[in-house]
Amino acid sequence: MSTSLRSTISMVLTRLNQPIGRYKFKKALEKAQEPLRIEIGAWTTRREGWISTDVHWRSQTYLDATRKWPVADNSVDYIYADNVVEHLTLEQNRFFFEESQRVLRPDGRIRLVTPDISALARLYLASPEDARPLRDELLREGYSIHHQVDLLRFAFQDDGHHEGYLWDLGSLSDELLRAGLTGVSVHEAGSSLYQELSGLEARVGTPVANICIVVEAMKPPSILK
Ligand SMILES: C[S@@+](CC[C@H](N)C(=O)[O-])C[C@H]1O[C@@H](n2cnc3c(N)ncnc32)[C@H](O)[C@@H]1O
Repeated sequence: MSTSLRSTISMVLTRLNQPIGRYKFKKALEKAQEPLRIEIGAWTTRREGWISTDVHWRSQTYLDATRKWPVADNSVDYIYADNVVEHLTLEQNRFFFEESQRVLRPDGRIRLVTPDISALARLYLASPEDARPLRDELLREGYSIHHQVDLLRFAFQDDGHHEGYLWDLGSLSDELLRAGLTGVSVHEAGSSLYQELSGLEARVGTPVANICIVVEAMKPPSILK
């Protein structure tokens, strides 16, 4: 089957799945137990205790991070998105972060994982031996890696990244603060001070995990508490 036929079929299935996926998201919200946890752009991942959402038809529950979420203000405890923000434009990410700020409870937390352009740039400038483990892992994953510059090219161009924004700690931190979130902190893959946010990343300690940045932020505590 040609790539364009496959992507047309995928688009049609995604469109057809939307009303069902929206309904399933609404039902999942009604049934969810506290603490309420929502994963954005989860693809086919399902996690115990989480509502795992995506815009793709392969996900059962539909939630588009870039459109108003059918979720009450101050109702969500944790939001998680692994390798999603680099697929969205800066404007779409601003909307995503503002919606997160709106729906999170005071003290609620968001955790984001995304390629870190500053880490990639350092590896691009490093010796071929230092860059070798990442090059080898990317090759094993099927990326087209011929030269050291492909370490930057894959982050800028592959997997639809050409349509999204590029992140480093400065840009991510500024945008989270701009949305009204606070307490931005950086973490190792797989670890968090919060049990609910620990152990979520599939990749830990690998060369690809090492070029990703893992950031958490929180909604400021309520002064009325
Ligand atoms: C690179 S995949 C990451 C999948 C999974 N989180 C992981 O780490 O393996 C990016 C995901 O973001 C989803 N996505 C893209 N745009 C989105 C949007 N506007 N709202 C929610 N999810 C979106 C895609 O459908 C895709 O499943």
